[in-house]
Amino acid sequence: MATREPPTVRWGIIVCTDAMEATGRISSWFVEDLVINRSDAKASHIIQAVGSSSLEKGNDFVARYCGKSNPSVYGAYSQVYDDPDVDIVYIGTPHAFHKQNCLDAIAKGKAVLCEKPLTMNARDAREVFDAARERGVYVAEAMWLRHRPLVHDLRKLIYKDKRIGEVFRAFSDFGVEMDIPNLPETSRYKQPSLGAGSLLDLGIYSITWAILALEEEPGSNPDDLTLNGVQTHWHGVEVTSSALLRYASTGRQGIVTSTTMTNGNPDMLARVQGTHGSIEVHGPFPARPTSFTVFPKFTDTLVDGLGDGVVVRGEGIKFDYPHAGRGFHFEADNTAVDYVSGKLESSIVSWSETIRVMEIMDELRSQGGTKYSQDLDA
Ligand SMILES: NC(=O)c1ccc[n+]([C@@H]2O[C@H](COP(=O)([O-])OP(=O)(O)OC[C@H]3O[C@@H](n4cnc5c(N)ncnc54)[C@H](OP(=O)(O)O)[C@@H]3O)[C@@H](O)[C@H]2O)c1
Repeated sequence: MATREPPTVRWGIIVCTDAMEATGRISSWFVEDLVINRSDAKASHIIQAVGSSSLEKGNDFVARYCGKSNPSVYGAYSQVYDDPDVDIVYIGTPHAFHKQNCLDAIAKGKAVLCEKPLTMNARDAREVFDAARERGVYVAEAMWLRHRPLVHDLRKLIYKDKRIGEVFRAFSDFGVEMDIPNLPETSRYKQPSLGAGSLLDLGIYSITWAILALEEEPGSNPDDLTLNGVQTHWHGVEVTSSALLRYASTGRQGIVTSTTMTNGNPDMLARVQGTHGSIEVHGPFPARPTSFTVFPKFTDTLVDGLGDGVVVRGEGIKFDYPHAGRGFHFEADNTAVDYVSGKLESSIVSWSETIRVMEIMDELRSQGGTKYSQDLDA
């Protein structure tokens, strides 16, 4: 039987890394993973075009990160949208620009994979998806965590295999220490007008972990969830967010936090607890889990001094997920497959889930007192 060739998609990359200013890191990570030669690739990826604020920066980006690719380099994003050879535009600008970049690409009929958060608030996300629906083009938020095989297997273990019994609680924290006072005024970590704040940058992952761990069918019952949140600000920038999530139907709780005041804990970026055990997820940070450990529990009458009926944690079994690169290829492959099959929405990160997570963050910001200019627009 003939094997079918994986589909080929041609990417237009919006924004470049500036090695001197240390900006645009995410775009370089994304293309470095795109050009990895993988025998298990579900799609073949071509870097067709690169758009930047400057041609010089664009050429430097291609030389540094694009491997053997020889893309067209443009000194304006609009030229990428106009390039007839580009299939999907990858948007890696600061979040405050995502909405306009998406709308501009959609208007030219381009499919879009846009970095998280898709927009600054849920209202803007709805506007982007409405435009995509009307124009009939594919748009997805690049929430790469949801595409990882580790996440798929972890959820199967929790909900199908019931390895830890009934889940009742999950924790997730994402911390990256930022020296905000000494960052340039133009930094997106410092400027509210560029979307500065720990929640939209980091907390979006903590919330996603809680959803993935606590919801058997994510998003199927959005009204089930209530949230109590607090935020702390430094010189007008939100630097720490904490929220308690509670599901009315099951009583499950999520404790989700983010901060730019200190680094997170790579030994445990999420913890899920059930009636028969717990799971700890490890990796450099919550967007990049690399393994998890399942701890059973048992009642041990032999544990010194603890006495009958004390439940202890058993020895953990570790599951490792080594892969090429950083793991952006999982989302790139899935995006390509969705795109060639004519879908408008990602099969992994649906429009309704992106909107729901934005709504959760809107609510936390409303309780915590963080407003962006985008919230004030008519
Ligand atoms: N998936 C992940 O794990 C992950 C990780 C990091 C960031 N992100 C997301 O990716 C997006 C970009 O993050 P980043 O850290 O790469 O951003 P960044 O370092 O601030 O750089 C963004 C790039 O955007 C362009 N840009 C356009 N207007 C700009 C302006 N007014 N100020 C600064 N840059 C401007 C610049 O490229 P040109 O000069 O070439 O146009 C710049 O190099 C954010 O939304 C963030 O949430 C995702």
